[in-house]
This record gives sequence, structure tokens and C-alpha cells, in this order.
Amino acid sequence: EKGGHEYFMLKEIEEQPEALANTLRGHFSEGRIILDEQRLADQDLREIDKVFVVACGSAYHSGLVAKYAIEHWCRLPVEVELASEFRYRDPVLDRDTLVVAVSQSGETADTLEAVRHAREQKARVLAVCNTNGAQIPRESDAVLYTHAGPEIGVASTKAFLAQIAANYLVGLALAGARGTKYPDEVAREFRELEAMPEAVNRVLDTSNAVRELARNVADSKAVLFLGRHVGYPVALEGALKLKELAYMHAEGFAAGELKHGPIALIEEGLPVVVVMPSSKGRATLHSKLLSNIREIQARGAQTIVIAQEGDETVRPFADHLIEVPAVSTLLQPLVSTVPLQVFAAEIAKARGYDVDKPRNLAKSVTVE
Ligand code: F6R
Repeated sequence: EKGGHEYFMLKEIEEQPEALANTLRGHFSEGRIILDEQRLADQDLREIDKVFVVACGSAYHSGLVAKYAIEHWCRLPVEVELASEFRYRDPVLDRDTLVVAVSQSGETADTLEAVRHAREQKARVLAVCNTNGAQIPRESDAVLYTHAGPEIGVASTKAFLAQIAANYLVGLALAGARGTKYPDEVAREFRELEAMPEAVNRVLDTSNAVRELARNVADSKAVLFLGRHVGYPVALEGALKLKELAYMHAEGFAAGELKHGPIALIEEGLPVVVVMPSSKGRATLHSKLLSNIREIQARGAQTIVIAQEGDETVRPFADHLIEVPAVSTLLQPLVSTVPLQVFAAEIAKARGYDVDKPRNLAKSVTVE
């Protein structure tokens, strides 16, 4: 049942193109995005004036990615909240607030309680969930299921990519209903999403090189991850995977924060993973990250750079270069996350750990 793989997680990494394709399938028709369950009228969606995404762990990182897409496509303010923090503040919610609850299991206690709190305040709740009929979708006004299939490995991989794709669909559904995107623009964005399973396939083709690199740094004390814009949540996710699986100290930072503290951590030989933005779409950010890499390399760090194919400018500063297909900026997390999953799994294996069942962790966290 592991399909020839030693661990479920490794199989699930390979299943990501299929998970993405299945999540997108059937959700687009005649210029419109179609949700699975919709107990909200288009009129309700038009009246939304603020969005909260609430989630935990990797699902929270998928929400951070969603913020960039929804703000850009819908011109709506989006806040992304850890579900465990959300209801202990006094978040400002009313019937024109949309709360998007993202959860693979649909049973995460903190996320469920955040949903209940939101509904008590009359907010509308949309669930993005991988488990049919779980509690969170049952208590929500609308549902979009990710069709990643059952995820056995405790660390989320294919469900995470599917969450990102589903969150984009939520953004496009909102943009369509609110008229911030015309049907032909929604169609164009959807077509781009449909090309992503193939792009992820191409990333998977480079896994052997990533594994070799991972074995070379498996003895390091720590690994840092840097990114900007949508690369920032990717950096956080890369660090979380490494903590969970390899029990290594790993931190993700927004690269712009480097000079505000984290650069003090840089020392000889420290592996630092940098998620580069596109040199075309994000030229300014790209050049800022280039100077970050130069700085950390000058201080002796071992730079591991994830960059788009054809980005020659990074070569001189990358001790190790991982190339991913060039896709539009907002979609980059779908390709740049994959090598980080492979990286973490291989380091964990090299250290002799069970990557399906990391110590102290449960697949679904049903207590607060
Ligand atoms: C990380 C991981 C966890 C989950 C988190 C939320 O690899 O698996 O951080 O993402 O516990 O779980 P769900 O999505 O089921 O609410």
C-alpha cells in the first residue's frame, strides 16, 4: 500500500500532482468557481468586507499564502490567524466577515472552536477540508473539499499543496462573485492552476539531487529558511517540516528581517535555504534577496537556493541550487514547497527517524 515506498510520506509527496488535479477537478464552469457545499448566496459573498483565515500548523501556512492571492484578486483585507489565538482575542466579526477555516482533518479542536466562535458572532464560515463530513465542514456555511485522498504520514504534504490550491479557488470564487475579476480572467487563472500538476511533476524529477544535498547537511545543528512575499510562508513550512521530521532546530524568516536580528545566527557552515522570487515578476524583491544571499554567504553560511529555471543571477551565490519551473508569482509556493518536503524527509531518514510517525505528534489534534 506504500506503492513501493519505504514510508507513506514519500508516497504522498509523489502523489501531489494527482492531489492537485483532483482538488481542481469539477470546480470551474462557465467562468465561475463552484464550491462543494454552498449555503451562502452570491449576495452574501458580495457583501463580505473582510476575510479571516483560521488554521493551525501547515494549514495556517496555506492561509498565509492565500492572503496574497485574495488581497490581490478580491481587494479585500485578509487576516491570517492561528486558530488557537483567534478566539482568545476579541476579533472584530460580523455578518459581513468571511472566516475561512482550513483543516485537513476537519477535526482540529482549535480550528473547530474558532469556527464556533465566528458563527456566534454571525460571521460566515467557509471550510476548506480534506475529510468528507468532518465536524468543521458540518458546522460551516460553505465547504470546498481538497481531494488529496487520505494522508497517512503525520507531516502534511499533499494535503498542504491541495489546501493552497483550494484557497486559490476560494479567492477566485470571491473575486468572481464580487466582480473584481471578470469570468474570462477567472478562467485564465484557473487554466494556470490546471498546469500546476505538471509543474509539480517536473519538480519531483529533481528529487534525487535534493536528497543527496539533504544527506550532506544531515549532521548540521540547525537550518534557517528565508523567503519573501509568498516565499515567506514557504520558508515557514520548510522549517516546520524539518522540526517535525528531523527534530532539528529550524527557523523560517521573512528575508527582510535578516538585519533586524536573525543575521546574528549566521555562522560558518550553517545551511541557509533561500526561496527566491521570480526575477521577472518580482525584480525588486529578487534583487533584495540576492543581496541577502551575498551577505550570508560572505559570513560563511552554506547557501541552498531554490530559484526558477533560467535564473542565472543566483548561481554565483548558491552553494547548492535547486531549480523549479517558472510559474506566476502567486503560484510559486506549489512548486517551491516540494523540494523542502523531500529535503526534510531525507534528513530525517539519514538521522534514522520514522518519517511517518514523528515523536510526540498526532495526525489530528483534537484537544486544545
Ligand atoms: C504539519 C502538520 C500539522 C497540521 C495541523 C493542522 O505537517 O501536519 O501542523 O497541519 O495540525 O491540522 P489540520 O489541517 O488537520 O487541521
